[in-house]
Amino acid sequence: MFPELKNDRFLRALLKQPVDTTPVWMMRQAGRYLPEYRQSRATAGDFLSLCKNDAFACEVTLQPLERYDLDAAILFSDILTVPDAMGLGLYFETGEGPKFKHVIRSAADVEALPIAKASDLDYVMKAVTTIRHALNGRVPLIGFSGSPWTLATYMVEGGSSKDFRHIKGMMYSQPDVLHALLNKLAISVTDYLNGQIKAGAQAVQIFDTWGGVLSGPMYQQFSLMYMRQIMDGLIREHEGRKIPVIMFTKNGGQWLENMAATGPDALGLDWTTDMAEARARVGDKVALQGNIDPCVLYAGKDVIEREVAAVLEGFGHGTGHVFNLGHGIHQFVDPERPKYLIDAVHELSRPYHETQYDDLDALNGVE
Ligand code: CP3
Repeated sequence: MFPELKNDRFLRALLKQPVDTTPVWMMRQAGRYLPEYRQSRATAGDFLSLCKNDAFACEVTLQPLERYDLDAAILFSDILTVPDAMGLGLYFETGEGPKFKHVIRSAADVEALPIAKASDLDYVMKAVTTIRHALNGRVPLIGFSGSPWTLATYMVEGGSSKDFRHIKGMMYSQPDVLHALLNKLAISVTDYLNGQIKAGAQAVQIFDTWGGVLSGPMYQQFSLMYMRQIMDGLIREHEGRKIPVIMFTKNGGQWLENMAATGPDALGLDWTTDMAEARARVGDKVALQGNIDPCVLYAGKDVIEREVAAVLEGFGHGTGHVFNLGHGIHQFVDPERPKYLIDAVHELSRPYHETQYDDLDALNGVE
């Protein structure tokens, strides 16, 4: 049904199969730092019109691939399309980020909230299929969703937040209400991701952008538990190929073992976690994705290459590493800079793949 995949090193690295060089993509690789993106957004009218029209979503998904030698494409959409489909009325106010017309604050609000079905997000499914065809097998297509906790922060706060006072207030004073909300979100997200997989997504990533604002015990109960529920319901093989799952909790470096135990193929790391240490802790169970500080892209070529080399050295020899930024690329980055990073990853990582090592113990026995 879809054209044959020509570059599969991203999928191979996630499944810890040998690769020739470390694959690389960047979170938020399609976005405002690219003048061609800003042009498309102006033509479409606004950001949501880009997301809701499959021709536009496809156009902007492919833009970074035209500029850079990336090993994966990521669906152009937003995590907040799911609460929008649940009737919350998503809109964007310039300079203020996302907002909802309706917020969730009470047991009655949660009770009245419908579960979203993939069919309620038909425009996303259509975009996935359109992009997959347009990619013509060049690189794999990543689908994604927000984690239940991260989506709930926007739904309860009504937009972005610094202190999370409404949702944390709910968590401590009405935990049952929050659990009911998170359960509805977990069911919705599972169907949404499975819908994307059936529509053509070849890997999926769960963005838990705000899990790291929780204490350890609260993270386990209110974020990780619902990601586990999703993990248990995801399609893991489709049309004869494995569908790797990447779990990314920003600022979740303390909980890698707990995350790995829920069964993802890979964990995303932000730059506050040391790559070598992460590999020593969970590298036998999962692949690792990350984790250069996105601000490195404000520096020149030499510094970018030095920092890329440091992350590659941190991971060390063998497969199981997907290079990425530790979080999304910033809108003020000069679009010339990512090229230095991406080319450096491909060049400098080759020696790490010349011999395949099964694990770090094997490495210790090699001169
Ligand atoms: O990675 C990609 O290229 C795919 C596209 C993508 C977007 N949002 C496009 C976008 C992805 C994967 C997301 C995920 C997303 N959206 C997250 C999780 C990842 C993360 O960054 O932590 C979150 C928390 C959101 C919610 C959201 N959407 C916010 C907070 C904002 C405003 C950001 C800001 O700096 O103003 C958005 C808008 C958004 N999503 C833009 C893009 C390109 C900018 C919109 C514009 O063009 O003005």
